[in-house]
Amino acid sequence: MGLTDLETRTQVGIIGAGPAGLVLAHLLRARGIDCVVLERQTRSHVEARIRAGVLEHGTVDLLTSLGLGDRLHRERMVHHGIELLFEREAHRIPLTELAGREITIYGQHEVVKDLIAAWDGPLHFSVSSVALSALTSTPTVSYVDADGVAQTLHCDVIAGCDGFHGVSRAAIPPGVLTVHQRDYPHAWLGILAEAPPSSEELIYAHSSRGFALHSMRSPTVTRLYLQVRPDEDLAEWPDERIWSELRARLDRSDPAWSLADGPILERSVAAMRSFVVSPMQYGRLFLAGDAAHIVPPTGAKGLNLAVADVKVLADALTAWYASGDATGLDAYSEACLRRVWRVQHFSWWMTSMLHPTSDNDPFDRALQLSQLRYVTSSRAAATSLAENYVGFPFP
Ligand code: FAD
Ligand code: DHB
Repeated sequence: MGLTDLETRTQVGIIGAGPAGLVLAHLLRARGIDCVVLERQTRSHVEARIRAGVLEHGTVDLLTSLGLGDRLHRERMVHHGIELLFEREAHRIPLTELAGREITIYGQHEVVKDLIAAWDGPLHFSVSSVALSALTSTPTVSYVDADGVAQTLHCDVIAGCDGFHGVSRAAIPPGVLTVHQRDYPHAWLGILAEAPPSSEELIYAHSSRGFALHSMRSPTVTRLYLQVRPDEDLAEWPDERIWSELRARLDRSDPAWSLADGPILERSVAAMRSFVVSPMQYGRLFLAGDAAHIVPPTGAKGLNLAVADVKVLADALTAWYASGDATGLDAYSEACLRRVWRVQHFSWWMTSMLHPTSDNDPFDRALQLSQLRYVTSSRAAATSLAENYVGFPFP
């Protein structure tokens, strides 16, 4: 086709410059291991993608240890609790008091910006036609670079960090992976608004109109979510409908409380699913983050789980390069899946407790309210929620 074929070599080829791929790149560089990162989108696209906002203590510690903590520590919001709101009453879960660790509010796209700004190794944006081959012998990635030039990257190992819709998982031959999946009959309509937070902490609200979540990004920017149908059409949600629905679902008996509104800066609808593939590896391809698993967002875990995966992978690769010891690489999937399933259970549980079914089935509703009353009145139950929410120590 008239394209020049260029060949390069690296130790680890990383597909995807989301949190998983970029954190892995930094971890490997800190340990003297070469890598090349390939990203389908432009830099401005990945830096503007509004997504998660809750960082576990372990994620913050890891980013800090990589020298990425300066802006994070300056601009983050540290939270010591969350509120569960039901039957128009708010109940606080004191996370730090119960679980000994706080959480950090800092946008995922800010993490991605920090990771890219601090990266001086090879990172190619706007690549296309990415294809993986020879996964059990001499792993190779072919792609077309931003200038339209066909490239071939030879690696010892490929890290598939290309999210749920990436190509890495699909490169594994049929029959190797077992897929565990659950789709939920709801989605989240998320907005970012230029409005000060109306509460100091996150509010997870159960109401007969559906779930709502009040989160934030800064003293002047709020992040809010509404449970909607999976096939919801954003065109049916003009600003006034979004605000009045948020007001209705976040309403509480306290007359002093009100929801501040403001211009909507961004809006999108995200499907909710639970998804896990097992194993998370094939030959010399290792899947990490959303490429291997998806959790519904109610537990605020997806980004943190992606970071935990690549920590395991970086440790295993370090041992392998240092002494040829492949024990860690062989056990990669098993090590990750223990945490993945704990998080999967917690995210499913939070989702089931907080999202009314579409027909508002009275039996389901009674179970949800019973569970909400239990976690907000029993110290043991609240502690269980808290230790899962703040996250277990990193591997
Ligand atoms: P991604 O961030 O998806 O990154 C994958 C990258 O690979 C992308 O940049 C993509 O462009 C690139 N890519 C794809 N295909 C290719 C290809 N063929 N070649 C090259 N590159 C490719 N998690 C939390 O922890 N806390 C939260 O509060 C939270 N809230 C969320 C709210 C919403 C609305 C959503 C949608 C998600 C939320 N999550 C949350 C989940 C979190 O955003 C994801 O789990 C996280 O982005 C996973 O990181 P990743 O690096 O594995 O995948
Ligand atoms: C946010 C997202 C979540 O999924 C969650 O559970 C809490 C907060 C957020 O975007 O701030």
